[in-house]
Amino acid sequence: MKSVKDYYVPWLPGQKMYISPHIELAWREPNLRRMMSNENPWEPSESVLAAINKYARIANRYPDQGLTIRSKLAAMNGLDGPENVMLGNGSSEVFDNIFRSFLLPGEEVIQHTPCFGIYKLRCAALGGKLVSVPMIYDKEQGEIKFDADAVLAAITPKTKIIVIANPNNPTGNFMAAEDFVRIAETGIPFIIDEAYIEFAGMERSHVALTKKYPNVIITRTLSKAYGLAGLRFGYALGDAEVIMQISAMLIPWNVGTITMWAALAALEDQDAMQWRVNFNNQAVAYIEEELGQIPGLTVFHSHGNYILFDCAGTGKKGRDMVAYAQERGIILRPQPEMYGSDGFFRVTIGSEEENHMVVQVIKEFLTQ
Ligand SMILES: Cc1ncc(COP(=O)(O)O)c(C=O)c1O
Repeated sequence: MKSVKDYYVPWLPGQKMYISPHIELAWREPNLRRMMSNENPWEPSESVLAAINKYARIANRYPDQGLTIRSKLAAMNGLDGPENVMLGNGSSEVFDNIFRSFLLPGEEVIQHTPCFGIYKLRCAALGGKLVSVPMIYDKEQGEIKFDADAVLAAITPKTKIIVIANPNNPTGNFMAAEDFVRIAETGIPFIIDEAYIEFAGMERSHVALTKKYPNVIITRTLSKAYGLAGLRFGYALGDAEVIMQISAMLIPWNVGTITMWAALAALEDQDAMQWRVNFNNQAVAYIEEELGQIPGLTVFHSHGNYILFDCAGTGKKGRDMVAYAQERGIILRPQPEMYGSDGFFRVTIGSEEENHMVVQVIKEFLTQ
């Protein structure tokens, strides 16, 4: 008799369940300050809490297909209607649904690194081949830059998906608008991940490209500026025919009733979102200004709710910075060694108190 192992799809053995050690730690030790996962420090607004409470009372009923919120999202983004919008259990599920719609085992996904880790995981789950195109670290200018030429050069006949986050996590920067057009022109399914776009303003969105290029799909999330990471709500915007086709891959009722209506309440409360954005952007400016004064520390100017640093020039290692902060009650995010430097670490914006704390702790460690 064969072992059950012999029945797994060939690319599964060796892969592991995704567990974020930093998030596990934060839940285990709630006194630690969560400055590691690009969450929003503010609890949901009253209108979102009211919607959660209201729809909790009919949690015995199945959700519908989300026509109300899909119509709202279409209207907010200048699109025709709900057929232009697909909902997901966080944008992580949206990536998965798009990948499953296009990718066969052995086919390629191009990502631009350093970047968000979930593209890699969803590609691996499908037996895809991940092609990581590195951004360019301009050490003189202290900037990590997009390299659209290298992304285009990485295309092969097996390329099925290109994914670019704009602004990118962890680098916090934008790619030039004309480079989005150059990639869109290839006709290859092109995901533009706008998880953090609200922090810079919706005028920076490339959603208009979806009208001209049916291969362009915009992804967004309510986990960041809207502050609902635990609720799990993301969405895709695109050409109606494409969105409706890939929506056939959705797991039925993938977004629950409470989540959908709480998300609608959040979208309708633009003042609450804008208030969070303003708070965030002031905090980014404060931290960049304070830490920008440390000799040898490179601060990567961010358009998101996180800031990347390279402390190699101070003679310290990023992972030691993270360990030092943790001893003082703050969880930061270590980064792998990149561009020959082991000095990288990332800070997520926290509450006012936490932002002051993190500035003190980083100054202390890097200047002692
Ligand atoms: C670039 C980027 N995209 C998407 C997400 C996804 O989030 P979610 O699945 O919560 O929508 C994140 C979260 O950190 C991110 O950094």
